[in-house]
Amino acid sequence: MTLSQERLEAALKPRPVHFYEQLDSTNDVALAWIRAGKPHGALFVADEQISGRGRLGRSWYAPPGTALMFSLTLPPQPDLSAHATMLGAVVVGELLERLGISGVGIKWPNDVQIDGHKVCGVLPEAVWAGDRLVGLALGVGLNVRINFSGTALADKAISIENVSETPVDRLDLLVYLLERIEYWAARADMTVLRAAWQARLNMLGQRVTVTTPAGSMSGTAVTVDEYGALLLRLDTGEDFRAVAGDIAIGAQE
Ligand code: BTN
Repeated sequence: MTLSQERLEAALKPRPVHFYEQLDSTNDVALAWIRAGKPHGALFVADEQISGRGRLGRSWYAPPGTALMFSLTLPPQPDLSAHATMLGAVVVGELLERLGISGVGIKWPNDVQIDGHKVCGVLPEAVWAGDRLVGLALGVGLNVRINFSGTALADKAISIENVSETPVDRLDLLVYLLERIEYWAARADMTVLRAAWQARLNMLGQRVTVTTPAGSMSGTAVTVDEYGALLLRLDTGEDFRAVAGDIAIGAQE
């Protein structure tokens, strides 16, 4: 089923929703909405993004009609913003499990995977006025029916319809994700969300290589702390705390 303004409005009423056939980035319009002081809870959905952003300055693209791409504006609750990455990854994990898909895991910090293949990325971006948090745009890009065969991503990425028994309607996925985001965001205590995220992390206890802006280092992924940082026991015996970066399973010297 195609997405449209009418379908989204009918299913999501009374939430403010904005649908675009083609757009630069849903995060950009969500951030502009927050900067303009408009109410939180607004949803921006695109069928195609021409400047979609990923983490660490990467681009994120999906052909029209093949992905669920949206950004939701969230209120400026410091605890929520600190857990936004986890929130996005957990609700997508819950969605996939609900669809009966096995092998669902989260690759630290926020890639949702199916059997080690990336199916979704999450990009939260905050708006600040000086040191005051104004709001948060939670961006989610979910591969629904992107055909990766024959591409450079063939052995790294996967789409829901590669593993679901039947075609899925992106609107149904979105409705469920929004319900789950609301559920988690309404909780004052983020401990349970953190536990749900940690339980899905798929590389704890394994040898990993973490690449950060400061360089790469290998060791064992021991655990994550209350802020979601990854604690690594390096081969030198020292401990390293990674707050951002990319992780690969196995040592890649
Ligand atoms: C990542 O895997 O690095 C994060 C990808 C996030 C992509 C989504 S698509 C909707 C929203 N708008 C963007 O420009 N990016 C996010």
